[in-house]
Amino acid sequence: MLPQLAVLAKILCLLMVVMCGAVPAMVRSVSLYSTCSSGNVTVIGRSIKAVVRDDQNAPYQKLTTQSEDFSRKLYIFAEKSQRYICFNERWKPIGLPKKKKNSRCQFYEDYNGSYLTYRSVVNSSRYLGFNKFGKPVKNRGRQECFNFIKYNPHADINHHNNLVNADMGGMDPYVVSRKPSPVMRASKNLLSQTDSTREIVHTTHRYRHRSWKLRPAEKISASRRRLESPLFEANKY
Ligand SMILES: *[C@@H]1O[C@H](CO)[C@@H](O)[C@H](O)[C@H]1NC(C)=O
Ligand SMILES: *[C@@H]1O[C@H](CO)[C@@H](O)[C@H](O)[C@H]1NC(C)=O
Ligand SMILES: *[C@@H]1O[C@H](CO)[C@@H](O)[C@H](O)[C@H]1NC(C)=O
Repeated sequence: MLPQLAVLAKILCLLMVVMCGAVPAMVRSVSLYSTCSSGNVTVIGRSIKAVVRDDQNAPYQKLTTQSEDFSRKLYIFAEKSQRYICFNERWKPIGLPKKKKNSRCQFYEDYNGSYLTYRSVVNSSRYLGFNKFGKPVKNRGRQECFNFIKYNPHADINHHNNLVNADMGGMDPYVVSRKPSPVMRASKNLLSQTDSTREIVHTTHRYRHRSWKLRPAEKISASRRRLESPLFEANKY
């Protein structure tokens, strides 16, 4: 009886890990380092460059990759500028606001050796690239100019979660940072049905990284975010 339970528990654990790994529409905060320009992709308004990180531009280097469905098509979204990285009609990368988002803002992320490349969904011979001065390149250039390294600054995410947790009165940062799947959340609810504080943390967190639509309870944090970024409105167009 007892060993059987243990096996069941193990299967459940495995299932949860598999489910979490396979969840689509994952949103992760990353920086994209361009090997040709030795800088990180930086989106300030419409302008996109690859420059070395400093105190001023650091927030503009915080990107998230998002997928809308089960396909491999990715959007690259710059949180601070609230813009997507897109190709214009002449295949120059530009930052576009949400309402102008289109298929030219979608990329396939592939490995070329140990580097990542971002290929346009619209034309498979067009890649995202930056030259050694950090300027976008259209189609010519050395292969390094189309290579990227993705930095996933966990330290920053943990820091953010710790801040959120501090606000909420202290919570296990691991649980928050995993962005649990519905299955995992459901089982967690089974385990602790009265743990409503944790739900609040999830909601706040999902707002920041996943859902861009406002719900009443989240309006406060949204307006706080806007206050923190005076450039937000200025960069909108
Ligand atoms: C690029 O971003 C990562 C992560 O934030 C950072 O660790 C790295 O120092 C940055 N590199 C440059 C060249 O700015
Ligand atoms: C991958 O890199 C090699 C050079 O290392 C280059 O010849 C090739 O075109 C690259 N492939 C893609 C898909 O970018
Ligand atoms: C894709 O871009 C290439 C140039 O890199 C061009 O020759 C080709 O016609 C384009 N294909 C489509 C389907 O637009």
